[in-house]
Amino acid sequence: MPALISPSILSADFANLERDLAVIGGADYAHVDVMDNHFVPNLTLGLPVVRRLVEVSPVPIDVHLMIDDADRWAPAFAEAGAASVTFHAEATQAPVRLARELRRLGVRAGVAVRPASPVEPFLDLVDEFDMILVMTVEPGFGGQSFIEGTLAKIRRARAAITAAGAATWIQVDGGVSRDTIGRIAEAGANVFVAGSAVYGAPDVAAEIIALRTLAEAATAGAVPHQ
Ligand code: DX5
Ligand code: ZN
Repeated sequence: MPALISPSILSADFANLERDLAVIGGADYAHVDVMDNHFVPNLTLGLPVVRRLVEVSPVPIDVHLMIDDADRWAPAFAEAGAASVTFHAEATQAPVRLARELRRLGVRAGVAVRPASPVEPFLDLVDEFDMILVMTVEPGFGGQSFIEGTLAKIRRARAAITAAGAATWIQVDGGVSRDTIGRIAEAGANVFVAGSAVYGAPDVAAEIIALRTLAEAATAGAVPHQ
């Protein structure tokens, strides 16, 4: 399965975002973490910054909303020019309605679940979403260690998507590195967010290639999940 790499600019230099986007031109997306200090205990950036990132980024913008009241705010990020908008299951009243609204606005619609939130409510609804984001750390901060217990959730999501014949992507976010990406890919994820692993590497462009190569090697020749 092709592996898509979405470096998280949470680990970039916030005083040099244009420069730090320019070095990830070999990635598939740029992952932008929007935090409101309510849904998570951290505060990052909002709509005006995303609008400018869209204009200067060499790759499409993948917005990860870690904010309350996603139903109210997510469509504006689609209108801001993001290619993909992911909201949290725990922060929406009507995930399917919101996903349909995002798709109507022309973006890929993703739903995210925290490590302790079940993915099961979405498994009969996978066609309604372009992506399921399985959080592999508690959202809010970069540089945390991967939570091994999330692998089983990835496997269950992949099995349901395969059974439904759906094209839904599975994204993982948190603790993705050369050490973990192989078994995450083997579990069934195909979109890999990596913040500290990419921006902490001596050669950012080479790190993106290394991560993609490791993910694809882990799934090469694998029997598709039933
Ligand atoms: C955390 C963010 C992540 C973060 C990942 O809540 O959603 O995107 O940047 O950082 P790493 O890859 O360092 O775990
Ligand atoms: Zn994120």
